[in-house]
Amino acid sequence: MNYLAPSVLSADFSMLGKEIETIAKAGAGVIHLDVMDGNFVPNISFGAPVIASVRKSTEAIFDVHLMIDEPIRYLEDFKKAGADIITIHYEACKDVELTLNEIKKLGVKAGLAISPDTPVDVIKPFLEIVDMILVMSVYPGFGGQSFITESLERIKAVKTMICDVNREIWLEVDGGIGAANIETVMQAGANVLVAGSAVFKGNRVENVKELSKMIADE
Ligand code: DX5
Ligand code: ZN
Repeated sequence: MNYLAPSVLSADFSMLGKEIETIAKAGAGVIHLDVMDGNFVPNISFGAPVIASVRKSTEAIFDVHLMIDEPIRYLEDFKKAGADIITIHYEACKDVELTLNEIKKLGVKAGLAISPDTPVDVIKPFLEIVDMILVMSVYPGFGGQSFITESLERIKAVKTMICDVNREIWLEVDGGIGAANIETVMQAGANVLVAGSAVFKGNRVENVKELSKMIADE
């Protein structure tokens, strides 16, 4: 199944709960929440208390993308805040396997993200644990950047690795996705498509509907 996952980083934070309610009602099944610490990435966004307070807005899947150093310190906070999926960065953890196992122990789905300069092969040892791989198609930290074209080959390579293991693993792609390239990204193998500015610039409901239609399963 394919999912559009609007990234609320580009939403109006003064009414974040309402924004989430609007896009969920328009058909977004996954809400992508970008947590940034000003250390792993050069930007600060929001943390667990904000996620907990907007959790009431929808039943949709909360997909929490942690762009923070040593996320193992905060996993329980994000679980309590209502995360359904917690994604950590390969580059941000001393012990990736331990961190992923801690997420699973909390009863939350575990995602592993790789930044554009990280070789895709690093994910191999974790394919028996993870529920999702996130291929970053921009350098993490900011919304509104352009899709890095080389990411398409990386997505295809990850898709092949996923197909070689006999488990259901979602493939999420994040950064610079919009109407012009969402189908190409999906065809490369992604089934969770993050879109921030493409959803929150202009009419949210129309944007969600248009993008969702483009990735609808046959
Ligand atoms: C970037 C974030 C993205 C970002 C995507 O570090 O992880 O989720 O909000 O925004 P767009 O879709 O505008 O590139
Ligand atoms: Zn993200």
